[in-house]
Amino acid sequence: MKTIAISNQKGGVGKTTTAVNLGAGLAIEGYRVLLIDLDSQCNLTRTFIAPEMITNTLVSVLIDDKGERLPFSAAIYETHIQNLDLAASHIRLARLEKSGQFDDLFRLKDALAPLETEYDFVLIDCPPSLGVIVTQALLASDSVLIPLAAEYYAFEGTQDLEETIKSIRRSNPALAILGYVVTRFDARTTASADAYAQARTMFGDKLLETLIRSNTHLIAAPAYRQSIHEYAQNSRGSEDYMNLMHELLARMEMTQKVRLIKQERRSGSAK
Ligand SMILES: Nc1ncnc2c1ncn2[C@@H]1O[C@H](COP(=O)(O)OP(=O)(O)O)[C@@H](O)[C@H]1O
Ligand SMILES: [Mg+2]
Repeated sequence: MKTIAISNQKGGVGKTTTAVNLGAGLAIEGYRVLLIDLDSQCNLTRTFIAPEMITNTLVSVLIDDKGERLPFSAAIYETHIQNLDLAASHIRLARLEKSGQFDDLFRLKDALAPLETEYDFVLIDCPPSLGVIVTQALLASDSVLIPLAAEYYAFEGTQDLEETIKSIRRSNPALAILGYVVTRFDARTTASADAYAQARTMFGDKLLETLIRSNTHLIAAPAYRQSIHEYAQNSRGSEDYMNLMHELLARMEMTQKVRLIKQERRSGSAK
């Protein structure tokens, strides 16, 4: 199981859009994927699950209620995409920001441990902050994917995020930056071109080759509770997120190893 936090304390940079469409892409490829919505705004949750279908959420898993917490599985819902599950958020998850004990910071990591063999990938959609919730996400992750919107001031705060990652490494030494990905790229604007050029200089080979271009289908798809790969399969958005997936798989050198496991599973289930 590879756990990837999708994080940037700026809002509107494409974290949730990336979680939805990268997660859906991996599931369509045959990987078993769990999406975790850690943002109390619940955008990721609502993209896949109607509110009336939700009973338990991560609140019951991560926050003490009369001294009791439920196992992670209580907050997991199957989505309409095969192999794609979602751990649901709730507006009250914001209360997690107040938990202060050092031990409490490992609640997500500990709760995830029993799922180790259930999923190939866990993608954590982080809230736009650098607080306790993001700390929990980074402590539970192997790597961080950082979306940057191609606009002016796109890199404000990336240094603070990098410093947060550095300090988390004292408790989670293997935490890697998987890459920076430029999103909402619009080739017609100088702001986008400037942002991309600046990203190259700042992040070098940590900048992913794949550019996620601006695409209105990406904005519309969640209203239909669909990923871009269903809503507009031939769109730029779908193409870009599939390319991102392949680039990340290559970067993680997972392609071969996980493919083998997938093949075994498929031949196992075919029997
Ligand atoms: N590549 C893109 N092209 C056009 N709009 C996008 C793109 N990526 C994200 N958006 C839109 O930008 C807004 C913010 O994206 P979102 O993924 O919610 O960011 P975050 O989770 O970082 O706050 C949303 O309305 C989303 O639909
Ligand atoms: Mg979001």
